[in-house]
Amino acid sequence: MHNAAFAALGLDWCYVAFEVAPVSLRTAIAGAQAMNFSGLNLTVPHKLLALGLVDVLDESARAWGAVNTIRFEGQGDDGIWRPVTEFDAVDRGRPTQFRTHGFNTDAEGISRSLVEDLGVSLTGTRVFLLGAGGAGRAIALRLAFEGVRELFLTNRTASKAEEVAAEIHTRFPGVRVVVGYPTEPVDLLINATSLGLKPGDALPLDLARFSLSEVRAVYDAIYRPAVTPLIAVAQAAGCKTANGLGMLLHQGAKAFEIWTGCPAPVAVMRRALELNIYGR
Ligand SMILES: NC(=O)c1ccc[n+]([C@@H]2O[C@H](COP(=O)([O-])OP(=O)(O)OC[C@H]3O[C@@H](n4cnc5c(N)ncnc54)[C@H](OP(=O)(O)O)[C@@H]3O)[C@@H](O)[C@H]2O)c1
Repeated sequence: MHNAAFAALGLDWCYVAFEVAPVSLRTAIAGAQAMNFSGLNLTVPHKLLALGLVDVLDESARAWGAVNTIRFEGQGDDGIWRPVTEFDAVDRGRPTQFRTHGFNTDAEGISRSLVEDLGVSLTGTRVFLLGAGGAGRAIALRLAFEGVRELFLTNRTASKAEEVAAEIHTRFPGVRVVVGYPTEPVDLLINATSLGLKPGDALPLDLARFSLSEVRAVYDAIYRPAVTPLIAVAQAAGCKTANGLGMLLHQGAKAFEIWTGCPAPVAVMRRALELNIYGR
């Protein structure tokens, strides 16, 4: 999606993937910086490690406790920090100092996708969230930040859901957070577990304890396959559904804007993702 976006904007940039062992993360970041990269995306398991490795944390990375985007910056003679790309594009001389700036675009990705793909406005809603891993925690905190009224959390390892609930309780005391299944209808059900990624995976919830007739909209953070077992049963139950493609898209669009300073061509990026992931 990034290469399609660079092409659409006529930018002579390129996005490439590298597999990096956690033990080499510090060296990999320094290497990319030395080679004049504009920035990086980081994924599992680097997002938490990077928190302690970048020079400056943006408010987004501090708030969500993870870094998924780094921008390399330089300090000019005037003392102002700018993206290193600006030093190449504009004749401002070479930077005298360099730094790494860490951001998080994942959290914004989920809320933009919920609005765009499901038409859900989160303020005042009741949400049932399955999963308290990396994605589940970020989604839970973002939902609380957006002002959901009640949040029901479940996770295979219950202690992780308890930890997330305690964090929400401290940071967002206005949100009622319950660890366990809802006993009344909810506005939105979100799957943030990895159940549904593999063929033959079980459903991420027990339908004997919660009926899909009790929910209006269902979001599955998984985007491959396009129709997960949860989405299939939710569609059969008449719920509005969306998969996680929009979440992937919007975290990428935000990162694109952080690196380039240009508005992301979101439609081009979505098209590139669909072609690449679904082949259509
Ligand atoms: N659309 C996007 O852009 C996007 C971005 C990030 C993640 N995701 C998706 O979100 C999901 C979670 O990713 P993550 O980064 O949070 O991974 P993670 O940190 O490894 O968390 C995995 C989650 O799945 C649960 N889980 C795994 N196997 C299970 C099983 N057999 N039964 C019940 N629960 C199980 C884990 O429970 P325990 O805590 O008990 O292990 C945990 O809640 C993945 O499917 C990933 O593809 C999508």
